[in-house]
Amino acid sequence: MKGIVAKPQSVYVCQSCGVSYPKWRGQCEGCSQWNTLSLEHAVPKAKSSGNETIAFQGIQGVEEEVSFARIVTGKGEFDRVCGGGLVGGSVTLVAGDPGIGKSTLLLQVAGIVARQIPTFYISGEESVSQVRLRAQRLGLENTPLQIASTTVLEDFLPTLEKVPLGPLGDAHPRALVILDSIQTVISREVQAPAGSLSQIRECLHHLLGLAKSRNISVLIVGHITKDGMIAGPKTLEHMVDTVLYFEGERTSPYRLLRTRKNRFGATDEIGVFDMTDKGLQEVSNPSALFLSHRNHDIPGACIYAGLEGSRPMLLEIQALSTVSFLTNPRRSVVGWDGNRLSMVLAILEARCGLSFANKDVFLSVLGGLRITEPAADVAVALAILSCLKKRPLPHDAVAFGEMGLTGEIRPVPYTELRLKEAEKLGFTKAFIPYNKHRGQKGDAGTALSLYPIKEVKDLELWFKN
Ligand code: TYD
Ligand code: MG
Repeated sequence: MKGIVAKPQSVYVCQSCGVSYPKWRGQCEGCSQWNTLSLEHAVPKAKSSGNETIAFQGIQGVEEEVSFARIVTGKGEFDRVCGGGLVGGSVTLVAGDPGIGKSTLLLQVAGIVARQIPTFYISGEESVSQVRLRAQRLGLENTPLQIASTTVLEDFLPTLEKVPLGPLGDAHPRALVILDSIQTVISREVQAPAGSLSQIRECLHHLLGLAKSRNISVLIVGHITKDGMIAGPKTLEHMVDTVLYFEGERTSPYRLLRTRKNRFGATDEIGVFDMTDKGLQEVSNPSALFLSHRNHDIPGACIYAGLEGSRPMLLEIQALSTVSFLTNPRRSVVGWDGNRLSMVLAILEARCGLSFANKDVFLSVLGGLRITEPAADVAVALAILSCLKKRPLPHDAVAFGEMGLTGEIRPVPYTELRLKEAEKLGFTKAFIPYNKHRGQKGDAGTALSLYPIKEVKDLELWFKN
């Protein structure tokens, strides 16, 4: 076979799950998605001599603090979501719908960090003058931020590898690199279009190498496709250290930054921002903001004392139940789980003798937030009951608690934290789960009047008094 140069192999790679096939096919066997295969040239495998060795280490050893020093941006909402700042040597992905404000957020973060350490903003989407204009609008024109506009990895990687150690020493990340976005950058080593799985994998591989070898923090923007997945997709999530989702309704100025994965901190933290004409402003007291447009004496609304990550948050839940003319009455939910609503309705039917068979039920969480905790069951049930009974709940009451299928109300974690937040915002009453360890009085450490609830029936009884 001497003299024959091997042709680079072409394979069809599923852009959703990464499974490859020698021939084209309509549906991927790996993830059952249609039309996700695209032609890519396989990257030649590195030859192995078969004699490589690795020296294993014992569990005991002296750890350097180096890799855990963080860049504290001073933008409190951002730092909270990162687990207290950006870790040196880490790669963080900021994912979100196009136009939600990722570039704006990262440019603002870059502007602040540039005052502490060398900061490089590489845009594959905008020209240098466009980035400059945006920076001016955000009031960042006097920061030592370095910007570049390129779509080729090899153009900027060698420069970044030469970033010298900063005045803060090797215990601190020596630079921050922001890449906007991973889908627009290509590596010359791979023959595949920008945004394809092979390109994303290759570029990310080099960026991870840069971050780890030089103790640099890297922030990467990733766009989300229509199905809600990061384009080019789960592989990206697995490879990076931290994944942040930037979410929000286009029609609302509020934006949420949510931790989906964090190798260096807690997940499910959220940061709240307000999109203004001067960029994203932090919202340090979201409960007050979400409740500011509240209409007091309308039946069908209940204030839920919830928890997002470690942060208490009060949210208004609204329910509407009307006569249905459909064979299958409608159940429509915004900001909560549809199956959970069906469960709450079933419990109300079974334990309180109500019927929703010929009723449409709509449920909505105001403020564009999505509740994931089961602790919202009681607030949802109260909102529905209040709508059915046409009686508003006390305007200064909050509620929380999980419902079991037998109709019992179960305690949920962090009761004190939830009550404290309600108290801070001027609420005086709380419907809380009965807890036998605390006794009928509930938690004595609060100024709120507590209504401990044992079962669903007690909720209905409240409307009869
Ligand atoms: P952008 O950061 O470009 O979104 P992404 O990078 O996620 O695609 O944000 C675009 C939107 O933000 C655009 O609709 C305009 C709005 N915006 C403001 O409202 N105020 C501002 O100061 C800036 C820079 C943008
Ligand atoms: Mg952008």
